[in-house]
Amino acid sequence: LRTILIGPPGAGKGTQAPRIRDQFCVCHIATGDMLRDQVTKKTPLGVEAKKIMEAGGLVSDDIMVGMIKDQLENNKDCKNGFVLDGFPRTVPQAEKLDAMLAYRHEKLDSVVQLVIDSQLLISRITGRLIHPSSGRTYHREFNPPKNPMTDDVTGEPLIQRSDDNVEALRKRLTVFQNSTGPVVEYYKRKGLWHPIDAAQSPAVVWDNLRKVFTNGS
Ligand code: AP5
Ligand code: ZN
Repeated sequence: LRTILIGPPGAGKGTQAPRIRDQFCVCHIATGDMLRDQVTKKTPLGVEAKKIMEAGGLVSDDIMVGMIKDQLENNKDCKNGFVLDGFPRTVPQAEKLDAMLAYRHEKLDSVVQLVIDSQLLISRITGRLIHPSSGRTYHREFNPPKNPMTDDVTGEPLIQRSDDNVEALRKRLTVFQNSTGPVVEYYKRKGLWHPIDAAQSPAVVWDNLRKVFTNGS
């Protein structure tokens, strides 16, 4: 399976992608998680990306394409395929991805858009808690951890993302509309686009995702 999850901040990409990974034995490439990892490690890229991410902007296409290329070439878990979460976010990123896949004689199966009214995203984003090293995601209200502020698996502390505030969210939504909107059109033209209602519960969204991957409808 080679698929892409597209959706605005808080649509549920990071919630659903690990289910796809586990069910279809593919790798989950989450560019936001990879960047946050660089920020934590204070690498030169991390130092640069931190400011951009906190402001809700986009890291450069060249850097992001390089990260994906490295994953496709070197991540052994990607042998059976992949689910991309957070990439491509611009048309040039989508074009570069096409070129990389063509070179590898591989093809995308589907591009799934998690469609949701932006009204609903504020509470999802401001209530989100994450476990930084695994990328596991919780929500204070909608998906609380077993113990307050600790990860269910490791018991390590959960944190709030530094871009999960109303101001940065507003910028991220505008960027999604302006830069990622055209990516949706790009995949519609290629006949790969499948919209899914992302306002449903995580279990219902997952059911509908599975239908796309098994029936292609
Ligand atoms: P990234 O990490 O990709 O952030 P994002 O796109 O803003 O998406 P989110 O992670 O906020 O949302 P999600 O859809 O994963 O939601 P989640 O499942 O967690 O990118 C961050 C930044 O990195 C970017 O702003 C940019 O600066 C940079 N970047 C990354 N990729 C880049 C690229 N390709 N090019 C350039 N720059 C790039 O769910 C949210 C919350 O809601 C959770 O608490 C969850 O528990 C809850 N929830 C999920 N589903 C449901 C449901 N069905 N019902 C109720 N609650 C739910
Ligand atoms: Zn995410």
